[in-house]
Amino acid sequence: MCGICGYVGKNNGIGEVVGGLKILEYRGYDSCGVAYLDNEKINIVKTIGGVDNLSDLSKDINANIVIGHTRWATHGGVSEKNAHPHISSSKKLAMVHNGIIENYKELKEQLDANFYSETDSEVFLNLIDGEEGDLVEKTIKASKKVQGTFAIIVLSESGEVVLGKRESPLYLSKTAEGIFVASDVLALKGEYFYSLNDDEFVSIKNFQILFYNKNGEKIDKKQEKIEKNEVFSDIFCKSHMESEIFETKDALLKTLKKYKKDDVFSNIKLPKNLNSISLIACGTAYHASLMGAEFFKEAGFDARAYLASEFRYGRELLNKNTLYIFVSQSGETADTIASAKMVKSRKFYTLALTNTPNSLLNRICKNVLPTFAGREIAVASTKAYTCQIWSLYLFSLYLAGKKLPTENKISNIPFLNFDEPYIKEIAGFEKVFFIGRDLDYITAMEASLKLKEISYINSVAIASGELKHGTLALIDKDAVVIAICTQGKIKTKLLSNLEEIKARGGKVIVVSQFDDFKDFPCVKLPKYDELLMPIVSIIPLQFLALRICELFGYNPDKPRNLAKSVTVE
Ligand code: AGP
Ligand code: GLU
Repeated sequence: MCGICGYVGKNNGIGEVVGGLKILEYRGYDSCGVAYLDNEKINIVKTIGGVDNLSDLSKDINANIVIGHTRWATHGGVSEKNAHPHISSSKKLAMVHNGIIENYKELKEQLDANFYSETDSEVFLNLIDGEEGDLVEKTIKASKKVQGTFAIIVLSESGEVVLGKRESPLYLSKTAEGIFVASDVLALKGEYFYSLNDDEFVSIKNFQILFYNKNGEKIDKKQEKIEKNEVFSDIFCKSHMESEIFETKDALLKTLKKYKKDDVFSNIKLPKNLNSISLIACGTAYHASLMGAEFFKEAGFDARAYLASEFRYGRELLNKNTLYIFVSQSGETADTIASAKMVKSRKFYTLALTNTPNSLLNRICKNVLPTFAGREIAVASTKAYTCQIWSLYLFSLYLAGKKLPTENKISNIPFLNFDEPYIKEIAGFEKVFFIGRDLDYITAMEASLKLKEISYINSVAIASGELKHGTLALIDKDAVVIAICTQGKIKTKLLSNLEEIKARGGKVIVVSQFDDFKDFPCVKLPKYDELLMPIVSIIPLQFLALRICELFGYNPDKPRNLAKSVTVE
């Protein structure tokens, strides 16, 4: 989380860095700031809120060496003093940091320094400042004492800039205009970039870039081509989230076309005796993984989805006949990355299913299966989710030896909104439950996450068969239950559950393509292939969350307390 940016060159670095931070704002947006060099003196401008505020505050400054940060607070509240960049006690160094220094409390006690913030980052900075040697030596020495994760840019009053990284992402590029540093390739300029591995460091002095390993030895690094994720839309909408929902079909179509054209599946290296598939992910990507596991079972494989944050500390027995698929829109999520590293280190088969070219996860895994949803900016994932489901479905067809569908399959996907009158009604409830069975239970989980994430309504997803094992106790006139039913085999079972809810005073709204729910208000879905109904049914539910969010006057693209890339544990 958090975006960091740096610039050393001929242009006005304030414009370059503030422009870069704007692109990285999806990573964190509670506060931001820049540090720049003015006559061998470090100056800092910081503010609470978004990059537009920073842009106003810094517009008259001109500087050639600038570092900047847009924060997602982990240690210390959201305030100007906790915003980055931080300045060291001696005032000789400034630093921006992405990550968490886990042992900052012990380190702070050992340091003889003045602290101006409550952050873990400032402790790391003063640790660096207190070490012996030149700036890169100091940084490497200090990095050995910190536990946790970091991507840092350190600026010295002499104009040297040092970078370092462990777990959190950091990239740089060099053009005739200058050297650009950022925590996402998206914010770099030029055609090629360098990617830092863990415990690698960089010194930028007099426009020269030198790379170092953790022993302080100089190393060579190769540049890679920048592949930017295409931004689709000429669709004009009120928010990124809205346009991204509208881009769903384009995303699915593009993905199918690419898979066919590049024959992607036959390039995936599979275990010789592949018999099981494990999918590992977080949040919405985990829901897509749950869906994928069902597709792989349908194709005859033993399959299971895991939450990455559990998997990495769990007791799973890894297996050489298993393919481990790591699903992540960003390809950066800390727990997913750590899980992939763990499986990779034991030499088992890994596959990254990501929507971000050049991502960290792509580098770790043996195989990469991209989705082509285009850049997703809104924190709430929508088109990337449907595209992950689609991609896993197509892969399951391939593994089952079946032909991929034609493009008509997508043009026939119905696309619908949630019925208007129900939206206001649902927004008035204190308790919202989403229920379903089988694939619909997974859709219920995703719909509930979406609603919580952007409307802040407390909502829960329950497998409908589980209601009477506890949750039914919460059903009364203050509860609304949104029941999803797209799988024919369970519709009569669901009907009984709905009667039980009605009998206890709960309001029921059904989302279904079946005619069996005439006694209940129903958002009617069109008929489509049952296995792919999760793509059809989630769209009105994404709209439901969006419209309630708009009704409450919140910004759907930047929900409170969240960020797009979760690069800390
Ligand atoms: C989705 O709406 C959420 N913002 C979140 O759950 C997200 O899906 C999760 O953090 C995983 O992100 P990733 O796909 O980039 O790994
Ligand atoms: N731990 C640092 C802080 O709370 C950096 C957080 C981040 O990576 O966004 O300021």
